[in-house]
Amino acid sequence: MTTITTPPGHQRILTGDRPTGPLHIGHLFATLRSRVAFQDNGIDTMILIADLQVITDRDAIGDVRSAALGQVADYLATGIDPTRSTIFAHSAVPAIGQLTLPFLSLVSDAELRRNPTVKDELAATDGRPLSGLLLTYPVHQAADILAVHGNVVPVGRDQLPHLEQARVIARRFNARYGADYFTEPEALLTRAPVVPGLDGRKMSTSRGNGLELGMTADATAARIRKARTDSQRRITFDPDRRPEVSSMLRITALFTGETPEQVAERIGDGGAAALKRELTTAVNDGLAEHRRRRAEFAADPAYLRDVVRAGNARAAALADRTLADVFELMGMSY
Ligand code: TRP
Repeated sequence: MTTITTPPGHQRILTGDRPTGPLHIGHLFATLRSRVAFQDNGIDTMILIADLQVITDRDAIGDVRSAALGQVADYLATGIDPTRSTIFAHSAVPAIGQLTLPFLSLVSDAELRRNPTVKDELAATDGRPLSGLLLTYPVHQAADILAVHGNVVPVGRDQLPHLEQARVIARRFNARYGADYFTEPEALLTRAPVVPGLDGRKMSTSRGNGLELGMTADATAARIRKARTDSQRRITFDPDRRPEVSSMLRITALFTGETPEQVAERIGDGGAAALKRELTTAVNDGLAEHRRRRAEFAADPAYLRDVVRAGNARAAALADRTLADVFELMGMSY
């Protein structure tokens, strides 16, 4: 064997986001803060701008670069320190793509077609045919994890099938080539609260029910003002029967550190108008510092690109070494 890229016991976190649009408060509570905590605990943290996943399920990909740089501004504003953590992009690390080919030989098409997350994503495309990339992107994702020997992957539930796929690929590669080379990555299920959108459904930019981190305070107020509620005057926390009101209570509570019931109690007979005022203040106060820092970073796209380029170089060095090891083990080094 040639090189060992992760010393025994070394933890390397790999996680990432698709640059499909602005990050919202769901990302802040679900993932961004915990990444900063990993970094601050001295864990090697790598954050992937999963740009090659943007083309899995959509034709209109938008301005990927500005979405990616906005994402980086949010990472930095949350406290990701590019001298300690690595931010990099799929497209800048060709070895990830190359590693995908031998990995594809280790999975069956039936296995790929069974992947529940891929099925859900296909179902959400309104009849678009299953593209070869959508079918196989979990294998590409296994390559992005294993290329840098990420061994801890903090994820939401929807990503568990992909993590399992990566573990299977690591195992099968080791078995087929008689090597103890890849470590099976461990999923770290984030216990963070799922932040509902203003309408009670999952928060998502495309549904227009989200509150983006980079919005101005005025735009936040306007979005909340326009959101639907119900006609019951007394505010109560009742997620089944009052999804909109309950979501607003939940979001307020996340920022104020209360329980949703406590917020409801406080508002009482104040009605939806008072609830919306509370929510607007909680979000705008809670995000003021993040937004100030974000705006500073966003004003300097050259710096943001430097951050990504430095991350790309580090990730590419790791991935190139992995690819060389893999070809060596496969008897394909000349
Ligand atoms: N599939 C993830 C998402 O859509 C993004 C992603 C790509 C990822 N590669 C990853 C997440 C590796 C964790 C680890 O959000």
